[in-house]
Amino acid sequence: MLIKTKLPWLLPETEATPESAYKERRAFIKKSGLATAAAALSAKVVDGATAGFPKKPNLNKKYIATDRKPTPYKYVTGYNNFYEFTTDKYAVRHLANQGWKTEPWTLKIGGHVEKPMTLGVNDLCKEMGIEMRVYRFRCVEAWSMIIPWDGFPLNKLIKKVQPTAKAKYVKFTTFMDEKAAPGFKGYDYYDWPYTEGLRIDEANHDLTFLAVGIYGQPIPNQNGAPIRLVVPWKYGFKSIKSIVRIDFTEKQPKTLWNSAGPDEYGFYSNVNPAVPHPRWSQARERVIGESAFAERVPTLMFNGYGEQVAGLYKGMDLKKFF
Ligand code: MTE
Repeated sequence: MLIKTKLPWLLPETEATPESAYKERRAFIKKSGLATAAAALSAKVVDGATAGFPKKPNLNKKYIATDRKPTPYKYVTGYNNFYEFTTDKYAVRHLANQGWKTEPWTLKIGGHVEKPMTLGVNDLCKEMGIEMRVYRFRCVEAWSMIIPWDGFPLNKLIKKVQPTAKAKYVKFTTFMDEKAAPGFKGYDYYDWPYTEGLRIDEANHDLTFLAVGIYGQPIPNQNGAPIRLVVPWKYGFKSIKSIVRIDFTEKQPKTLWNSAGPDEYGFYSNVNPAVPHPRWSQARERVIGESAFAERVPTLMFNGYGEQVAGLYKGMDLKKFF
């Protein structure tokens, strides 16, 4: 069942005159607490890619989740899933910052493309241009955050490498380093390295984002430095961290979670309150940062991005292709 929302985060284009845009942005930043968080951050040293990161990424007003305030920085960076280090959400932040070097970092792009290439993430940031987008983020475990990401749409990079007609899917692969991130060795029943995949039209969708920052700062190691995927209408596990390879494939790629539990983690994994996980309901979600006793809020179809993405799945049975 598709829940219709007013898409409050999508501001009308008519308001985008320079002066009102400025005022709105200030008001939004003030109201949302982004300014306080940014000020608190300026004193901090954040690990991750730095050389290519702009002083102040511009907020793209087209992508603002205004129905809820952004999740405070301390939760976004202190409550993480990063199994290469540990399954303890509170310990990731410590373990990912014990000497793991995320700069310099290269990203290899290949498969069915006219122009396979290897790119330094810092150069990529400079070339693509970095903007801030505030997206909803919904984990399959039924918790959620609102995150101001800094990065660029994946379709900009796709355009650069020129996929051939054979490219029907995109496969993403995370780094694997036994020394820096040995946590995965405790879960050898999974098919490491962590991989994820999208259909090529999903990858080309304007919402699909490569993030190199959070809250206007380079992305911390625990959040997937120096470059990670963000697909806001899908469950969070699709948003693969610390990417080293992107391959364009003809067949649907095998992915870590889908291989581990195809009945629990579908290849599509679009947020859908009507399709329960076999072990829990997906109808509601716990908003991180609010009290543990706070009432769970209803989960929105496609995480509230239905108007933008429902067309990608026309004619597909969303219960079957979950
Ligand atoms: N990517 C890698 N490489 N390893 C992981 O364990 N966890 C996924 C996703 N990407 C994961 C990953 C899951 S389950 C979630 S919910 C999000 O990252 C969590 O991102 P966050 O820690 O920045 O909130």
